[in-house]
Amino acid sequence: MVKEIVISRPDDWHLHLRDGDLLPITVNETAKSFARAIIMPNLVPPVTKLTHVKNYKQRIIKALKPNMSFEPLMTLYMTEETNPKEIEEGFTKGLISAVKLYPAGATTNSGSGVRNFEKIQPNLEMMAKVGCPLCIHGEVTDNSIDIFDREKVFIDTILEKIRTKNPTLKVILEHITTEDAVEYVSSANENLAATITTHHLAINRNDLLAGGIKPHFYCLPVVKRESHRLALVKAATSGSPKFFLGTDSAPHLDDDKESACGCAGCFTATNTLEILAHIFEEQKSLNKLELFISINGANFYGKKVNMEKIKLIKNDTPTLFPKKLATPRGKLTIFKPNFETYWEVKSE
Ligand code: DOR
Ligand code: ZN
Repeated sequence: MVKEIVISRPDDWHLHLRDGDLLPITVNETAKSFARAIIMPNLVPPVTKLTHVKNYKQRIIKALKPNMSFEPLMTLYMTEETNPKEIEEGFTKGLISAVKLYPAGATTNSGSGVRNFEKIQPNLEMMAKVGCPLCIHGEVTDNSIDIFDREKVFIDTILEKIRTKNPTLKVILEHITTEDAVEYVSSANENLAATITTHHLAINRNDLLAGGIKPHFYCLPVVKRESHRLALVKAATSGSPKFFLGTDSAPHLDDDKESACGCAGCFTATNTLEILAHIFEEQKSLNKLELFISINGANFYGKKVNMEKIKLIKNDTPTLFPKKLATPRGKLTIFKPNFETYWEVKSE
């Protein structure tokens, strides 16, 4: 039985760090495991201008402890008013690695997102021209569509149109949650890829809802039935270059999660690698873990795979993590699936 693996240092291709006094915690938790991460721009106010991008990046780097190394890969939040010139300048100067598209109202701080997708066509054309990838939160927001169907309806009614109009645009369908999305991405050309989160690989909607509602398992897109989780696990462990890790680690304080209107998001930055090693081992696919967390994403984004290595070792006893982190604004619960992991990360 394999007890130890050494792999290239991983990257997180979808991460929420928030801002202000949470940054020293969120940035350093991620930097323990990851070399780089695509940083989500859904702050209040959102990161819609290059000046915001530059300032936010500086705040992130300032929050990093002196002995840690971590590269934030910044994104611009697309609105209906975004100017294609801003995208061109940001991408060609290396200030941004991608642009993020939120359908307005789809999730946390998405109110400035897009309602009319026709309006962003000039931006998409510019992105295709300069090679800038588009990260998409793929859910419709129409209240008449059942929340469990919103990803599939988005693919059928919006994503397909965007891709047909912009065949050379690089698109990442983020945090996919359904077998439908796995099939759609698998059968598309090489310009479409998908990220999969730690929590969507680890829990299903029974974990969220059966026997009492578990606010720390609530995220968006909401977790689906077991057959969908299994399709995601199959995609992640397949080694296909179209699927890679985007944790969507999204911290919300306990008071905001354990509430009558609880916020969506699971904080997985602390223990993602240990959880994933368990899931991949269960599938007898530990040899595909490096592709999923360290190689496929870098290749899709046209970045170099990290030179540095990490070691994962398997212990005889479960790996222990704190249940919560203390922040200046209250407690933050670390995601804990309904199984133990025996894996532990050691830097090489
Ligand atoms: O669960 C989520 N939390 N999904 C998202 O799309 C946004 C994120 C957040 O920012 O809290
Ligand atoms: Zn997210």
